Parts: sequence; structure tokens; C-alpha cells
Amino acid sequence: MTEAEFAEGFRYLPGYLDAEAQAALVAELRALLAEAPLYRPTMPRSGRPFSVRMTNAGSHGWFSDKTGYRYVTHHPKTGQPWPAIPAAMERIWAEVADYPAGPECCLINFYEPEARMGLHRDEDEETFAAPVVSLSLGDSAVFRLGGAQRRGPTRSLKLHSGDVMILSGAARRAYHGVDRVLGGSSRLLAQNGWPDGGRINLTLRRVTRPAGEAG
Ligand code: SIN
Ligand code: FE2
Repeated sequence: MTEAEFAEGFRYLPGYLDAEAQAALVAELRALLAEAPLYRPTMPRSGRPFSVRMTNAGSHGWFSDKTGYRYVTHHPKTGQPWPAIPAAMERIWAEVADYPAGPECCLINFYEPEARMGLHRDEDEETFAAPVVSLSLGDSAVFRLGGAQRRGPTRSLKLHSGDVMILSGAARRAYHGVDRVLGGSSRLLAQNGWPDGGRINLTLRRVTRPAGEAG
């Protein structure tokens, strides 16, 4: 794979949100989590727990348990519909997604310092024409980006609080994961009522194919 193919559709926008906007979003997320608490999903088949805890906002929430990966409309523990996607995240999508329809899922991943996420592709959506847009908050993480093949070459980059990353085009279906979180590298969560710190990653996705989009 050439470097050009590797990079096609991958965009990294460091420091997209300033400190004030990050703090405001963390405050909003604390309220959101009171309504839609973090839970620990389990892997399909093995039933092994994820090291990351999750919740969602939007009409669709990404969910995993023994029966597989899928989108669901309600929180698995509270039985309530997912809360609305925070306005700040809708704004980021409008600014960077270059896609005519809005996001339907905001997956909220919470990483304690020892949490990680294995290499995977985001492929439970009906359309891959829409990008995946992600925002990092709190502790920095070592992110790994590969290509279309699980065993292909990868590169790693550090994602810091406020950074936005976009997987579009060929990169939309690239393998990616989080090797590790650099515990204690950010004060953002601790300073905003989240005493133990950690890392939050918010991932925006379009789940259904909009009417009129070729399939
Ligand atoms: C994900 O792929 O769902 C999360 C990526 C990240 O935490 O940066
Ligand atoms: Fe992912």
C-alpha cells in the first residue's frame, strides 16, 4: 500500500476545540451520563467484557453483546431512548463531515488509563459514504490506523484533548484502534467534576442510508 492510499480520506485536525469549548462539552456530558449511564459492553461470541465503557446519544446507539454488534434505539440498562446528540457535536459534524445528512449516532467511549480498543473497522452502518468523525477529550491516547487489510501496515499517532479525526473515503473502512491511554496526561476531566480523569472519545456516525443516496 502506498502512503497516498494509506492517507486518502484520513484527516487529522489537532486542537479543533479550545479549552473552554472542551470544558463546556465535559459539563454537558456529565449531565448526559446521569441520564444514560456508562455500561460495559461484551464481545460477541466470547462474551468477554470490553475494557472501555460506553453509552450513546442520538437516534441510534452502537451496542455489542454475545449476539453481536448492532445499533439499538434504547439504552440497554435504563430502557430509555438515547439522549440527543450534544449541540457542540452536531456543529462539528456540520463543519467537517462534508455530507448532506446529519449524524444519527454519537458513541461515547470512556477509557480508564488501562483501557484499550483492539484493531477493528466501523462497519455496522448502512452507508459508508458518510465519514466517521471523532473527538478526543481528556487524557491523550496512542491511536493506531491501518488500511483495508487487518494484517496490513499501520501507523500510530497521539490523539490529544480537543483533537478531531475524520475517517472518510478509503479511510472510512480502515482498521483502527487505541493501543493505550496516557493516564494523567490531561487535567480536563479532573477539573470538570470527573475526579478520576481518563479519556473520552466521541464518535459521530451516520447509521441509515439517506433517501436518494445510491446504495
Ligand atoms: C472507536 O474506534 O470507536 C474509538 C476510537 C478512539 O477512541 O479514538
Ligand atoms: Fe472505531
